[in-house]
Amino acid sequence: MTDNNIYPIFDRMLSREDKEELLGQHSVMIWFTGLSGSGKSTIAIALERELHKRGLLCRILDGDNIRSGINNNLGFTEADRVENIRRIAEVSKLFLDTGIITIAAFISPNNDIREMAANIIGQDDFIEVYVSTPLAECERRDVKGLYAKARRGEIKNFTGISAPFEAPVCPALTLDTAVLSLEESVNKLLELILPKIQTKK
Ligand code: ADX
Repeated sequence: MTDNNIYPIFDRMLSREDKEELLGQHSVMIWFTGLSGSGKSTIAIALERELHKRGLLCRILDGDNIRSGINNNLGFTEADRVENIRRIAEVSKLFLDTGIITIAAFISPNNDIREMAANIIGQDDFIEVYVSTPLAECERRDVKGLYAKARRGEIKNFTGISAPFEAPVCPALTLDTAVLSLEESVNKLLELILPKIQTKK
């Protein structure tokens, strides 16, 4: 080694490409947006299982593992939602840079917030999926009983009731779980995503 070669190759962190090669996959970000109770997490979980079966490594980020941990100091004001999504996007970027297919399931209620996420992550890697289940259906299901509370005024700023939700302008895919079965939704996702992530092992 010569004197001017002071940054030898083994001093740098391995790149995303190195990790992708190790895993035999291309990483992408699959970003689910939609109302509370629309089915985002359910679809994310079913999709992860299908990808895992095919030997593809995924990481799901959703309210259960993010709002209870790294973001447990955040509520539902507009500013807190922005910070929620900003941190999620930054964390997602770390997973993407590790070659991992990253799946986020958050309301992310408007175009600005999703645009911010896409810019942090990188537009090319960002696949926006709109879970468009209508409010009436989400409210009918009311899995967590939150819509009833929001209607009674016990929860403020509740998306769809007392806080806005803006549908994406041009999502890569729209899935209405009032119409599609879980299997149908996952199949549509696989059709879209598999060509982008599979490499020959
Ligand atoms: S986001 O708007 O910041 O993207 P996020 O997806 O993290 O929201 O969290 C939404 C979940 O938090 C809902 O599915 C629901 O269970 C719960 N929640 C509690 N309060 C609210 C509220 N005011 N508005 C929306 N969701 C709420």
